[in-house]
Amino acid sequence: MDSKQEQKPHAVCIPVPAQGHINPMLKLAKILHSKGFLITFVNTEFNHHRLLRSRGSDALDGIDDSFRFESIPDGLPPPENLDATQNVYDICRSTQEKCLSPFKTLISKVSDSFSPVTCIVSDLLMGFTLDAAKELGIPEFMFWTGGAGALVCYDQYPNLVDNGLMPLKDPSDMVNGYLDTVLDCIPTMHGIRLKYIPPFIRTINPGDEFMVQFTNTQLHKAKTSSGIILNTLNDLEHDVLATLSSTFPPCYGLGPLHLLEKQITNKTLSSIGSNLWKEEPECLKWLDSKPPSSVVYVNFGSITIMTHEQLLEFCFGLANSNHPFLWILRPGIVSGSESELPLPMEFLREISERGMMGGWCDQERVLNHKSIGGFLTHSGWNSTVESLASGVPMLSWPFFSDQLPNCWLSCNKWGVAMEIENDVKRGEVERMVIELMSKEKGKEMRENAMKWKEKANEACTFPSGSSIISLEKLIHQMQTFPK
Ligand code: UDX
Repeated sequence: MDSKQEQKPHAVCIPVPAQGHINPMLKLAKILHSKGFLITFVNTEFNHHRLLRSRGSDALDGIDDSFRFESIPDGLPPPENLDATQNVYDICRSTQEKCLSPFKTLISKVSDSFSPVTCIVSDLLMGFTLDAAKELGIPEFMFWTGGAGALVCYDQYPNLVDNGLMPLKDPSDMVNGYLDTVLDCIPTMHGIRLKYIPPFIRTINPGDEFMVQFTNTQLHKAKTSSGIILNTLNDLEHDVLATLSSTFPPCYGLGPLHLLEKQITNKTLSSIGSNLWKEEPECLKWLDSKPPSSVVYVNFGSITIMTHEQLLEFCFGLANSNHPFLWILRPGIVSGSESELPLPMEFLREISERGMMGGWCDQERVLNHKSIGGFLTHSGWNSTVESLASGVPMLSWPFFSDQLPNCWLSCNKWGVAMEIENDVKRGEVERMVIELMSKEKGKEMRENAMKWKEKANEACTFPSGSSIISLEKLIHQMQTFPK
């Protein structure tokens, strides 16, 4: 290492080992690198192998010596195949119980062999890293990869318990209308119903009790960190960010991170990708052949699992809508079918002209393609922000976690989405796709989405965009942290 590099700050960035967390953390790391930081990016060994496989063996080659990749074990037995969707509960439990020691060893190793670590940037759900940071006297910033609204919902759990609303008492509460209870105790989210509170903290399903304890521990720890980073923009979540700053350390809204990354990061760095599955570029060529705003893009992200029955309802709903669609179904998305997707022949025959299927794509490019007119999504936060930043309206079929409040906000506050019921039916899919693509409501949502696109671009524009200013403040705090 040359003497110039020795004087640079060195950030260790560690995401939750899941696609929806690795993507935004990598963008954040690239931004910090462009702002003069040395970067050590820490994946789990399992994901490290997956990245090498999906991107080629040179995928993780850093830029000279200043951007490096390292890995630690996740503590789980190796999955049967590299496409397996790792169970969220298992990951949370295992990282919490098993990753502290390898992480501390790694910090010492890179401090000795590379450059002294001056700050840790950890996913908020990797609270064990804070124990290491405190022990080693290194400041830590925590990155919440969901929206600010979802963070408020999680943070209000004790409030919901005090109000007698949580935990659910009985499984029948899931179906007896109890979840329709309107809440007025969640700041800035008045009118939200109980059903949109992240289901992890309802404590009905096996494993939920652990998740309540886990989430509360992570939030408690995050409150003792140096700052919270969010992939959001001030215009979108101004009131929620203000609420958070009364209970959390300074909150920095740096979104949309993918736009900020484009503004700030140099070309060589931007070629480092983070997709765990291999992208299929053919779908972009197929989109080129379609008229503007004509295609429904369907993608439920990296964690959603659906039943075969739900898959069939979507198949026939999309086919019957008569609109062209690009449907990305990642391997393993249907429970019990790890490789072959059980798609009915009559569906495949029917849509051969009108539909394109794939296993994974470059979503940012797809959403920015002129032929895309709407997005049928699970409302993962990255997908939500990417869709807003592209001016694309949505149909929302949330699966779990923060996707529920994201759906509520998209439908009720931002006017950019309509919700599909969990118990999905083909008739409803057909009707809503038609409404999205060719009716008044769809037009209205598209206009709203275009306004958010404008605001997202403004937030990331020099010199006075809100995310640009927020980034400067964050960098200043990172570099001047009192030892
Ligand atoms: C999950 C949660 O759903 C999300 O709300 C949370 O904040 C992070 O973890 P995931 O379910 O995978 O993530 O959804 P999402 O947040 O939308 O992230 C998926 C990411 O993968 C996006 O950045 C998307 O652009 C990318 N992606 C997805 C692709 O590049 N190609 C695909 O085919 C599918």
